[in-house]
Amino acid sequence: MRYLVTGGAGYIGGTVARVLLGRGDSVTIYDNLCHSRREALPPAAEFVEGDLHNKGLLTETLSRTQYDGVLHFAALIEAGESMKCPDVYFRNNTVGTLSLLEAMHATGTNRLVFSSTAACYGEPRRTPIEEGDELKPTNAYGESKLLSEHMLRWFGTQFGMRYAALRYFNVAGAIEGYGENHEPESHLIPLVLDAALGLRKEIKVFGVDYPTKDGTCVRDYVHVADLAAAHLLAMASLDQKASAVYNLGNGQGFTVREVIESARRITGLPIAVVEEPRRAGDPAVLVASSEKAKRELGWEPNFADLDTIVDTAWQWHKRLKSDAK
Ligand SMILES: NC(=O)c1ccc[n+]([C@@H]2O[C@H](COP(=O)([O-])OP(=O)(O)OC[C@H]3O[C@@H](n4cnc5c(N)ncnc54)[C@H](O)[C@@H]3O)[C@@H](O)[C@H]2O)c1
Repeated sequence: MRYLVTGGAGYIGGTVARVLLGRGDSVTIYDNLCHSRREALPPAAEFVEGDLHNKGLLTETLSRTQYDGVLHFAALIEAGESMKCPDVYFRNNTVGTLSLLEAMHATGTNRLVFSSTAACYGEPRRTPIEEGDELKPTNAYGESKLLSEHMLRWFGTQFGMRYAALRYFNVAGAIEGYGENHEPESHLIPLVLDAALGLRKEIKVFGVDYPTKDGTCVRDYVHVADLAAAHLLAMASLDQKASAVYNLGNGQGFTVREVIESARRITGLPIAVVEEPRRAGDPAVLVASSEKAKRELGWEPNFADLDTIVDTAWQWHKRLKSDAK
């Protein structure tokens, strides 16, 4: 099979590209490298350096060969930044996705797996969150993804596009030789590991008075290898099943303090913590129900244990940071 992977120089797209290549598929990565490095590309993939807004290049790339599908990861991903410049997020993520959909439509490429996000839900009324629950993003990043989902629906009904929109919760961990390396980094586990390595003085914990077991926010950490497996299942499902939206989380929530404790155990290193006030727009608990993905795709996450997730991240992270010295 042959796939186009947008954003394949990044963390999750790069992981999925490696898994596809590992099972013998052909992969073309389309990325403008705005938040990634050329060195992160898997050597076995073809690479097209291009922006989502370059519809001509997207169309040309898609018409060069018959692709079995597109996996669309390319996006800006910082919720906080999206509140400072919502225009940039709507242009990059929503208008960029429209450009991709148009290029797909023009070239008769009609199978798409789309990276959506838990941020589509905003402040949930209940947990675990199900796909039919209220969609009310509290940041422009989440809205930019939700609008993209709406466009998918219309391309589906009007143009026959088949898609799976996957709403990831907190993606974490690494596969052998490849993991998270965002620049700038805002995700908890790599930040905590940087603190363990002394690359940052301390880890800031935003909010210690939430109604949770230790007062800190609860998040659902899904391992990137499990996420990759879900993409393969979702793509395969498009032949037999209707287009759909699926949550992807491991169904277990862990508090910020539990993540820090886990990192202390795994690394054996001290991690200094500074308690800060709550940040606006941070829900107390974000935990997914992934029952629909289990039921309809046959997906089963293998990494439920926080220490194992943190350990895979640590194995990658310490090598990355020592290579960077
Ligand atoms: N990391 C998470 O926990 C998480 C959670 C929910 C959803 N997601 C979604 O998963 C996807 C991948 O996230 P990630 O963590 O791998 O991010 P990442 O920043 O590592 O990768 C995104 C890639 O997209 C590229 N890109 C961005 N805008 C582009 C454009 N206009 N044209 C071409 N390339 C462009 C970047 O250069 C980068 O290589 C994103 O769509 C994100 O919204 C991530």
